[in-house]
Amino acid sequence: MKATIHTQYGSPRVLRVEDVARPTLAEDQILVEVHASAVTQGDRRLRSADFPGIAAVVGRLMFGLLRPRNPTPGTTFAGRVVEVGESVTRFRVGDRIFGGCDTGAQAEYLALSEDAAIARIPEGVHYDEAAAIPYGAHTALQFMRDIASVQPGDRVLILGASGGVGRFAVQIARHLGAKVTGVCSGAKAQMVRELGAHEVIDYTQEDWTKNGKAYDVVFDTVSGTGYGAARRSLSENGCYASLYMTPQIAFQMLRSALFGGPRAATGVVMPKQKLTDDVAALLAEGAIWPVIGARFPLEQVADAHAALEDRETRGAVVVMVAASAEIDADPFADTALWAAQ
Ligand SMILES: NC(=O)c1ccc[n+]([C@@H]2O[C@H](COP(=O)([O-])OP(=O)(O)OC[C@H]3O[C@@H](n4cnc5c(N)ncnc54)[C@H](OP(=O)(O)O)[C@@H]3O)[C@@H](O)[C@H]2O)c1
Repeated sequence: MKATIHTQYGSPRVLRVEDVARPTLAEDQILVEVHASAVTQGDRRLRSADFPGIAAVVGRLMFGLLRPRNPTPGTTFAGRVVEVGESVTRFRVGDRIFGGCDTGAQAEYLALSEDAAIARIPEGVHYDEAAAIPYGAHTALQFMRDIASVQPGDRVLILGASGGVGRFAVQIARHLGAKVTGVCSGAKAQMVRELGAHEVIDYTQEDWTKNGKAYDVVFDTVSGTGYGAARRSLSENGCYASLYMTPQIAFQMLRSALFGGPRAATGVVMPKQKLTDDVAALLAEGAIWPVIGARFPLEQVADAHAALEDRETRGAVVVMVAASAEIDADPFADTALWAAQ
């Protein structure tokens, strides 16, 4: 099969596509013919060994000290089950599934335990759309619902509302009944409004910290150092939740637990089957939807990784792995980046 390979950490140019052996199946595993895989900031971190804050040392120990332990990137996918192990009961050959995995999705085939963070793709959702869901939706759902405990009527501010996680945080906070303010660059404000934000603040024009105690939740996808600024803008029982596990956050978590005031929170999302089932249910009821910014064929996987990094793309970057009959006539027709190749 064709698979993306990198044998060293580095820029997108360390990626190449090679012929490798198809994975063999254990009895509790399924073999997935991958149709699409989104490129995420998580993929970028694993490819370049850019592990932030507290994870700097642990990341290398887990993923490879000097070079990547797993040479094929890709942590989200959508595809079709083409083979099942003897003891598999949850899936059948032909099932259309999507989800998250530790690595390996930017290849033609992927072997996974049937208990992995995977679910059936709801009716009417294409493979490229499904692949663009798990990373952002898993993270946003866990942070909005479980960590920040967003309640109906809460005023939620999302820093980085135009990003991979932020786009889903806007939709999920709105679905939970919150009044949502998204913070992003002016160029992406319209997209964030269309995703459901009641209000959008362009961070290049306006300072959201000057609005008084205007929020119950500040969800920070941009840094792990914003607690001090957020504290002035949060209600007494409010929550500052950050995607970054920094020493500052750890300190503020301890401080707010001991002395009260708005609490600080962080976490690492390790998706499980239940979380993917919940995401699939949100997708099926139309509560969340992906924005796709660019699609690339597998052969151009390095360009796809580069597109994620240039920050011009509005929406997810998706690698199209297998030719899918379900994709409309020309899957790349509406993709400016593709047209520019
Ligand atoms: N803890 C976890 O389990 C977990 C899970 C997933 C991701 N992460 C981490 O979370 C981080 C964010 O991931 P992501 O995929 O959402 O990244 P992303 O797609 O790069 O989005 C970041 C967004 O931040 C916006 N931004 C930049 N400067 C800003 C500012 N000053 N104020 C407000 N917004 C600003 C950018 O908006 P514009 O483009 O509009 O400027 C961009 O859309 C990454 O570091 C990732 O590794 C952690």
